[in-house]
Amino acid sequence: MYRNHTLCRACNNDQLIPVFDLGVQPLANNFVGAGEDHAGHAPLKVLFCPECSLGQLSVVVDPQVLYSNYLYVTSQSETMKHHFEALLNDIIIERGPGTVLEIGSNDGTLLAYLKSKGMGPVVGIDPAENLSPDASKQGVQTIISTFDSTAAADAKKILGKVDVVIARHVFCHVDDWLGFIYNIEDISNRDTTICIEVPYCVDMLQKCEWDTVYHEHTSYLTLKALKALLSKTRFRMQKVIRYPVHGGTIMVMLNRMDYLKEPHRSVDTFVSKEEVTVETWKAFATTAQNQAKALTHYVWELNEKGLTVCGFGASAKSTVMITACGFTKDQISFITDTTPQKHGKFTPGTSIPIVTESELMALRPDYAVCFAWNYREEILRKHQQYLKEGGHFIFPVPELQVV
Ligand code: TMP
Ligand code: ZN
Repeated sequence: MYRNHTLCRACNNDQLIPVFDLGVQPLANNFVGAGEDHAGHAPLKVLFCPECSLGQLSVVVDPQVLYSNYLYVTSQSETMKHHFEALLNDIIIERGPGTVLEIGSNDGTLLAYLKSKGMGPVVGIDPAENLSPDASKQGVQTIISTFDSTAAADAKKILGKVDVVIARHVFCHVDDWLGFIYNIEDISNRDTTICIEVPYCVDMLQKCEWDTVYHEHTSYLTLKALKALLSKTRFRMQKVIRYPVHGGTIMVMLNRMDYLKEPHRSVDTFVSKEEVTVETWKAFATTAQNQAKALTHYVWELNEKGLTVCGFGASAKSTVMITACGFTKDQISFITDTTPQKHGKFTPGTSIPIVTESELMALRPDYAVCFAWNYREEILRKHQQYLKEGGHFIFPVPELQVV
């Protein structure tokens, strides 16, 4: 199900240093129902490359196991709607309207939005067979495949020429980065803009968002590492934009070396400010350990007082945190989530059931651990009544806070 990873994905260095270890964990999005098989567990450990500053997991889990029946659905939340508006705006500013290929298009939500705003034609590539009917319903054609040379060529055939390639939260899931870039190179021209959005390692380390470390995220990207990788290709960074979603992300726009526009000053600014070292990672590991202990103690104390505790948001992050804290159904009796596909299933590795969000008010637990902390303001606005009736949200990161 997984294999060991020992050579830096960006620069080929074989002297990688272990910096963060979460033991052995279930696959974070492997939500299964009663009687269904679990995919299993794998080590969850980060290795750091001192040459290019890339953080990367010590194992690579078989993508077929991770993504063929994928229960992560692009959020329809307000927060994400605003984010998509910002993305569209930034793409239009940089290169204007045009045809779009999205790699990892999930249920087609972003492409449907871009289409409605005049971009297009659009086409998506995604391996999740279960999500392609949803994309069709939104008017988005999906090639059901991982992003390989055949899928790339098929997409180009449909689009004619590819003006914009979007890869949101997919690049750091990929093991073979050079292969990924070469496949993009094959279908792009001098003016194609490649927009890669990833969680920014600097944000994750600074805000100690340790629950974003899970098997799908094989890399924790710095711009220095990306620069090292791109030095072996025909592409360069054109522009870097930071966004507040998912705890802090960057979109890096890439263009071919022969693109006529000069790279934007944001590239040098961000690269020169970036300081990610073994020490930064080790400090992060210590803080993460303290955060996990603080949450574990807090929840156990509530349980001992006879207070009820649930989880809010069955995100992949919730699996990481629940496993690291050793919570079972005795501590966290259920988790609410808005994703219909997750209802009736269990948090991976536990028997904690996932229920609809309406259960928050129906069962009115005293405390709800908010595992979807990246939507904090939206959730607090939506659940004023729960708070008024004496309910509390526990936010586990950046430090434990009870509202
Ligand atoms: P994400 O952080 O990876 O987008 O996952 C967030 C999870 O939380 C996802 O399963 C949807 C869920 N969620 C809720 O249950 N209620 C909410 O109000 C929001 C915003 C998300
Ligand atoms: Zn490296």
